[in-house]
Amino acid sequence: MSMFDLTGHVALVTGAGQNAGAGIALALAEQGAAVAVNDLRAERAEATCAEIQKAGGTAVAVPFDVTDLDAVRAGLARAGEALGGHIDILVNNAGIPADMGYGPFRDITPERWRGPVEINLFGAMNCVHAALPGMRQAGWGRIVQISSGAGRTGLAIGVALYGSGKGGVESFVRHISQEEAGAGITANTLALGLMQSAGGPGISDIAAGIPVGRLGRPEDVGAAVAFLASPESSWLTGQTIDLNGGSVTR
Ligand SMILES: NC(=O)c1ccc[n+]([C@@H]2O[C@H](COP(=O)([O-])OP(=O)(O)OC[C@H]3O[C@@H](n4cnc5c(N)ncnc54)[C@H](O)[C@@H]3O)[C@@H](O)[C@H]2O)c1
Repeated sequence: MSMFDLTGHVALVTGAGQNAGAGIALALAEQGAAVAVNDLRAERAEATCAEIQKAGGTAVAVPFDVTDLDAVRAGLARAGEALGGHIDILVNNAGIPADMGYGPFRDITPERWRGPVEINLFGAMNCVHAALPGMRQAGWGRIVQISSGAGRTGLAIGVALYGSGKGGVESFVRHISQEEAGAGITANTLALGLMQSAGGPGISDIAAGIPVGRLGRPEDVGAAVAFLASPESSWLTGQTIDLNGGSVTR
């Protein structure tokens, strides 16, 4: 392996028990990273972990809730111990709360406002806060945030709260990139278009409207993250990159 080799690095991928997160964890392991596989649901984290191990990679399951700072701190410590090093690649992928309600903002009652913001914005802050000391001490780190087109474009599809969490975290990552650039740490965001896993009625019409002609796959996200996590990407920081089959160009 020559380019994008992650041997010797230790990654944490949140919400990696299925779909995009699992694709990211598999890709990083394939490039040689030891991977801490997080999910709120332990059995999902263990399933991804088993898949990595079956392919010959190194992984450990670290279930915790990214919105709980104490649990995040303990999870990172556990991961570092199990994998023999601090987390130097952090991928904040968890972003869809179990009980996310969709609908126009006017119809969403106040007690449901926090969930989508909490997981996307505070979930990312918790993980970044816990991972930064180790990265700074080593003088090297990669932070990759998974966002959505809904964080960049106004849409009348019932995702105002989700979009505000995504937009907020994109801004957070931009600031982190500036604060930590001198410490050898990059921070970037990937704004995903609709993924195959989204399913639902009308999905084939949506796919037909995407210039590349298909929805996103976990391996599309995995490949982009593997690049952003690599030593070769050190000149790329502070950016939000659309990964969407060409649906939106800027
Ligand atoms: N699916 C899409 O079409 C799409 C489009 C654009 C962006 N995205 C973004 O991509 C990312 C992954 O999406 P997906 O569709 O693969 O998600 P998913 O819901 O299929 O899987 C995410 C995993 O996160 C876990 N999770 C939920 N809450 C958690 C928490 N508090 N702590 C830890 N883990 C938690 C879930 O158990 C689940 O296994 C998200 O950030 C999402 O916003 C998805």
